[in-house]
Amino acid sequence: MSQPALEYDGVTVRYEHHGPPTVDNVSLSVGAGERVALVGLNGSGKTTLLTAAVGLVEHAGAIRVCGQAVSPRTIQAVRGSVGFLFNVPEDQLLFPKVVDDAAFALVRKGMKPKEAGAKAREVLEQLGVGAVADSPLHHLSHGQKQRVALAGALVTSPPLLLLDEPSAALDPPGKRNLARLLASQEAAMVIATHDLEFAKALGTRYVLLEGGRIAYDGADGAEVAQRL
Ligand SMILES: Nc1ncnc2c1ncn2[C@@H]1O[C@H](COP(=O)(O)OP(=O)(O)OP(=O)(O)O)[C@@H](O)[C@H]1O
Ligand SMILES: [Mg+2]
Repeated sequence: MSQPALEYDGVTVRYEHHGPPTVDNVSLSVGAGERVALVGLNGSGKTTLLTAAVGLVEHAGAIRVCGQAVSPRTIQAVRGSVGFLFNVPEDQLLFPKVVDDAAFALVRKGMKPKEAGAKAREVLEQLGVGAVADSPLHHLSHGQKQRVALAGALVTSPPLLLLDEPSAALDPPGKRNLARLLASQEAAMVIATHDLEFAKALGTRYVLLEGGRIAYDGADGAEVAQRL
């Protein structure tokens, strides 16, 4: 069997040193190419679990991304294998012009700016924001910004996508289009979402968090809906 794309092994996160755990002894394995919907009420720990995998919050226990243990020493390499979408797009949009932002991850990997720009335009087009590629970011709507941030996460075709509420700001056609696009990717993905319809369209495994612990892990969407 091929190596899992993401593994949590007894992972605990505490925001305060002696405080209660926000993520509490979570073990979870996501296979290469597997799609997981991470669901749970507000404050159940979804964002925390995702951000721990890219070293943005400290964890106890072990997290491995494509076999590589997540630690301060490995974090740059780990981040190179992950396309991450923050809950708030402004948190990850850095450049004044849309196309430069979407191309940034490619340029950082060594691609020539012209080539990177062309690839970024392709991905922006797929996400329905090709027409604003040359616009300044601050002219975009919230949903458009979310699409641009997503383009930045997808542009390098990483083996693992960690997406925090990617459909939250999208209109209904945008959601359907995004579900189709994600379903066509080879990458493994963990998608934190409150949108069960969107999760279902991705044909997912559901992982339900309650108070930082896994309360359900399986394919039964009706069961999940009942428990939320
Ligand atoms: N930087 C932080 N410092 C202290 N506490 C935090 C921090 N970030 C999150 N928390 C707390 O950790 C808990 C889990 O938050 P988290 O954002 O992981 O939940 P979530 O499941 O993503 O919620 P939502 O559905 O609202 O996005 C919450 O009680 C929150 O207040
Ligand atoms: Mg969250």
